[in-house]
Amino acid sequence: MDRLDGSARLMIVSDLDQTMIDHHDPENLSLLRFEALWVAEFSQDSLLVFSTGRSPISYKGLRRDKPLITPDITILSVGTVIAYGEEMIRDVDWEQYLNNNWDRNIVVEETNKFPQLKPQAKRNQGPHKVSFFVDKQGAQEVMDSLPQKLEKRGLDVKIIHSSGEALDVLPQGAGKGQALLYLLKKFNSHGKPPSNTLACGDSGNDAELFSVPSVHGVMVSNAQEELLQWYEENAKDNPKIIHATERCAAGIMQAIGHFKLGPNISARDLEFPYRKVDTIKPADVVVNFYVLYEKWRRGEVPKSSSIVQYLKSITHLNGTIIHPSGLERPLHASIHALSSCYGDKQGRRFRAWVDRLVTSPIGTSSWLVRFDNWEMEGDARYCCRTTLLLNMKPETPEGLELTHIHKTWLDGHSAGSEHTFIL
Ligand code: GLC
Ligand code: MG
Repeated sequence: MDRLDGSARLMIVSDLDQTMIDHHDPENLSLLRFEALWVAEFSQDSLLVFSTGRSPISYKGLRRDKPLITPDITILSVGTVIAYGEEMIRDVDWEQYLNNNWDRNIVVEETNKFPQLKPQAKRNQGPHKVSFFVDKQGAQEVMDSLPQKLEKRGLDVKIIHSSGEALDVLPQGAGKGQALLYLLKKFNSHGKPPSNTLACGDSGNDAELFSVPSVHGVMVSNAQEELLQWYEENAKDNPKIIHATERCAAGIMQAIGHFKLGPNISARDLEFPYRKVDTIKPADVVVNFYVLYEKWRRGEVPKSSSIVQYLKSITHLNGTIIHPSGLERPLHASIHALSSCYGDKQGRRFRAWVDRLVTSPIGTSSWLVRFDNWEMEGDARYCCRTTLLLNMKPETPEGLELTHIHKTWLDGHSAGSEHTFIL
């Protein structure tokens, strides 16, 4: 909660499945485009919140499968769990509060009486979430009669129908919108309300996010029927909510532009040669560098000596890199090694991205940048915790040059690996 000194410039609160993550895009391109934008332009002064229907276990599985960056806050199990930081420290006050007028055993007992409801797997259930599969008609029948039945037994519940097939029974005070309200209140009480908040979603359990006062909202182009219907009935006249024309994370980038919440061009969309920038942005330089590195190895940029020249111009002549093995090499030798690897990852689902990036100024003309440097090939993933030193160099397009890189395997990500990080 306290990563930032002041208010967040932007807080993005986004659903994951079919909003941040496009399950129809095995290349994960729009996700990676959004993430490069986020890390380069927002991560140092803004907050990223994932708000998912998934349970903690199911979310962990998703993180293993997809190139997801680490959010500041994770809201899980449809707003019944709030967890902070990458350690995912649970908000016990929130869970305590949800015990009001709630008894999971009674919910199970009463819902058992509805043959329309097919319980979801155990891993998708939670202390404050009882979930089923059901068709549209069955969902209506349950919504019409279950709340009264539970009320008679002293419970106050909320029922949410999502993606035309899922039905969740939660405490009345729970849900994605209530969890967001709780967080906003908390930020307010610390005197740090975010300057802007953007809620992003695609299905029924996201509708609540769009009812939180003062937030901007984007329903991605591929939003589900039940969300669009909710919008028609409840939010049609609210100019702060849009239905994007782009799918998933591309729709989120579209909304950032539409509401003028900040820059919305991803490093992955920049054409080489790069234009000269007006302000020096250390995070930008690092993100651009690894995007170019990935595109070079995927053979997605022209095989041109001007790119190798550019890489040499932004790396110090006497700079060094320390590899995770401990091997030390001149930076220019690594650029040379990279130049002979053009296209070596073509057709191999190779990706490189950075996460948990922190920049710290040293004096007035240098920056220390720390980040996780990920590489993925097919289903295999590798990660180095990386420290990099940048110095001011006005002649380069970005005004900075890399002088030193030090990499070490991130705990648990070397596993007898023959994988080599070239840079
Ligand atoms: C996610 C959860 C599931 C829930 C659904 C709708 O898919 O895994 O349990 O029912 O979201 O909220
Ligand atoms: Mg979704």
